Amino acid sequence: MKAAQIKKYGGSEVVEINKNAPKPTVSRGHLLVEVNAAGVNPVDWKIREGYMQQMAPLQFPATLGGDFSGVVAEVGEGVSGFKKGDEVYGHASILVGGSGSFAEFVSADIKVTARKPENITHVEAGALPLTGVSAWQALVDHIGLSRGKKILIHGGAGGIGTIAIQLARHLGAYVATTASAKDLQHVKELGADEAIDYRNQSFENMLHDYDAVYDTVGGETYVKSFRVLKRSGIIVSMVEQPNSELMEQYGVNAIGQFTQVSSERLSKLAELADKRVIKVHVDRTFPLEQAGEALAYLQNGHPRGKVVLKMKTS
Ligand SMILES: NC(=O)c1ccc[n+]([C@@H]2O[C@H](COP(=O)([O-])OP(=O)(O)OC[C@H]3O[C@@H](n4cnc5c(N)ncnc54)[C@H](OP(=O)(O)O)[C@@H]3O)[C@@H](O)[C@H]2O)c1
Repeated sequence: MKAAQIKKYGGSEVVEINKNAPKPTVSRGHLLVEVNAAGVNPVDWKIREGYMQQMAPLQFPATLGGDFSGVVAEVGEGVSGFKKGDEVYGHASILVGGSGSFAEFVSADIKVTARKPENITHVEAGALPLTGVSAWQALVDHIGLSRGKKILIHGGAGGIGTIAIQLARHLGAYVATTASAKDLQHVKELGADEAIDYRNQSFENMLHDYDAVYDTVGGETYVKSFRVLKRSGIIVSMVEQPNSELMEQYGVNAIGQFTQVSSERLSKLAELADKRVIKVHVDRTFPLEQAGEALAYLQNGHPRGKVVLKMKTS
């Protein structure tokens, strides 16, 4: 089968298309899935560049990719509830015991797989797992966002941000968001009440007494975000560890999130996607053969929403 692999860490140039990669074998508790589409996430280029090598060194050649949507080709021992031909979606990165989704077939643990939302395409479903579960875990599980609460979501036009804005509005919150000037209209259409141009405006001087901040950006943006919160507010960051000095100074709670994709969270997201409460916004698709270009485009091209590899033409 074809797979986008690396044999060493590096930039886009290290991504190779192996036309003779072995089809993954299906171990206990796993499904073999024929992949229709695979969403591209920042963690995929971070893995390629070796950012995770201390935590989880790769064995080369390594197949890149985590998110997928496709059709069950084989069912492993001990699996119930799935059969050949079922449409499924999930996350099968090599970091979580999968075989990597930038390939024609992927082996996926059923704990991180669920039925694909019926009313959306494979390309949309393949774009949803990591970003959708990230937004769900932050807004529902950590923040407990509810009607009338005020939340600032950073990076509103990004993969996570686009889902987080829609989910926050669904939960009844008042939403402010930061984005590039070109994306301000788009984030308002997603449901943001206030859209702030992050290059030319200072969100920290514009917003006060917020209940929550969801930070998908980090760095200075994270530090300045504490000023926006009311006392006993909460900040959840996708990229920063909690800063105890700032927590104490502002009297707020801070969480550094490690997203855990699970079949339960995927099933809840699928319901929202089927009801069109959450729409997936795909900026651009690439064929599997251009996985290197797709990663470079996500890293440097400022896409609006998601970048997706499409393995099948239909
Ligand atoms: N901890 C975990 O378990 C976990 C899980 C998933 C993701 N993540 C991390 O979360 C981050 C976001 O993921 P993603 O999929 O949403 O990435 P993404 O699709 O690349 O989106 C990032 C967004 O942030 C915007 N942005 C950049 N600088 C900004 C600033 N200073 N202020 C406001 N917005 C800014 C970008 O806008 P422009 O392109 O217009 O500049 C882009 O729309 C990544 O670093 C990813 O690795 C962590």
